[in-house]
Amino acid sequence: MNILLGVTGGIAAYKALELTRLFVKAGHHVQVVMTAGAKEFITPLSFQALSGHPVRDSLFDAHQEAGMGHIELARWADQIVIAPASAETLAKLRMGRADDLLTTVCLATEKPIMLAPSMNRLMWNNPATQENVEVLKQRGLTVLNPGLGEQACGEVGEGRLPEPQVIFEAVLAFQHDLKQRTAQDDQAWLDLTAYWRGKSLVITAGPTYEDLDPVRFLGNRSSGKMGFAIAQVAAKAGAQVTLIAGPVNLATPQNVNRLNVRSALHMFEWVQAHALTADCFISAAAVADFRVAQWAQHKLKKNADNDEMTLHLVKNPDIVAWVASQPKIEGKPFVVGFAAETQNVLEYARGKLHSKKLDMICANLVGEHAGEQMGFEQDHNALTLMTATQEQPLTTSSKTQQAMALLGFIANHPIVMPCHDTASAP
Ligand code: C5P
Repeated sequence: MNILLGVTGGIAAYKALELTRLFVKAGHHVQVVMTAGAKEFITPLSFQALSGHPVRDSLFDAHQEAGMGHIELARWADQIVIAPASAETLAKLRMGRADDLLTTVCLATEKPIMLAPSMNRLMWNNPATQENVEVLKQRGLTVLNPGLGEQACGEVGEGRLPEPQVIFEAVLAFQHDLKQRTAQDDQAWLDLTAYWRGKSLVITAGPTYEDLDPVRFLGNRSSGKMGFAIAQVAAKAGAQVTLIAGPVNLATPQNVNRLNVRSALHMFEWVQAHALTADCFISAAAVADFRVAQWAQHKLKKNADNDEMTLHLVKNPDIVAWVASQPKIEGKPFVVGFAAETQNVLEYARGKLHSKKLDMICANLVGEHAGEQMGFEQDHNALTLMTATQEQPLTTSSKTQQAMALLGFIANHPIVMPCHDTASAP
């Protein structure tokens, strides 16, 4: 494995020598990048002797190809480890600064970054540092907990650099997990592609807006993220995807045919035109149940004599129920609905599965639960996938992972979907 070891300015910088030795002894390749601060504590020559490579410290290195050492290093590394990571480096990484070689490499890489912080206990516990650590963790960086004990400054507390052996083992364990996750992910994509390649899929997503007058509408909090994630995963797995999207602020996933709509009636028109010839119809949209009976041509005005206003609403067509109720001729799509509920989600979902005659439903808890926002507008979700005979709760994960599980569930489901394009069937 190629390890890029970043060493920043701190009294514990000398421990990075032992870490270098451990990696090299275990057969890994190490290149060291030092910050100016690190060089105040320890000489680059020691790292050069242990790693067998000259230490890199300059952002503008004329000896490196085209003077772009940061890109070349970012590409070379399988894993970036910063030990010790100073408070200043944590702050710079959080801000996305790129004023030295180490921070620039970190900005220019997709490789995993592990940080082993080391600093005075007050600096570590300072809300600024803690907030930086939190943000970096949220972005996917691994931050090791500093050790507790006597510090170089004479104080006792949390902030010591973890022992080199501990950092070494943490890196190996991380890489082991990563390899396993990557292998599982690769297998999941292979399975998805084997099933979905060549199949056609129509997906509705987002809210619908039911206009009251030229400036006002009835809407809901659906962000469209779940439906877009399904579209993205299905298209990546090789399906032909038509995405009928209500008003949302999301980019169209690659290789997806997107049709924008505003109202439930408009969505219904496109679904009628496309869904019946598809292999699968997934209704992830939060369709408004009602629209105003009479749209006002001009802005509705307040009435000075009346403190109340009554809207006369009429029912919208139930789009997914319409698709599911079509005669069971050959080629009827496999129909999947969503049940977004704030309570009794499984019970309501089961009811809708039967009343709307769906093949499958995804129960989706929305709103605030145990102090956390769920479902709508969130990047994560925890669906329960249901058919007449099966129920599979998914653990909370990104909407992309939920989409992979959902499409994988359909692929494994005993109901055999007809495939219109037999020539490209797997
Ligand atoms: O009845 P309810 O709105 O809770 O049902 C949710 C499911 O029905 C979702 O899949 C949603 O997309 C779909 N639906 C629809 N047309 C409607 C209302 C809901 O397709 N008018």
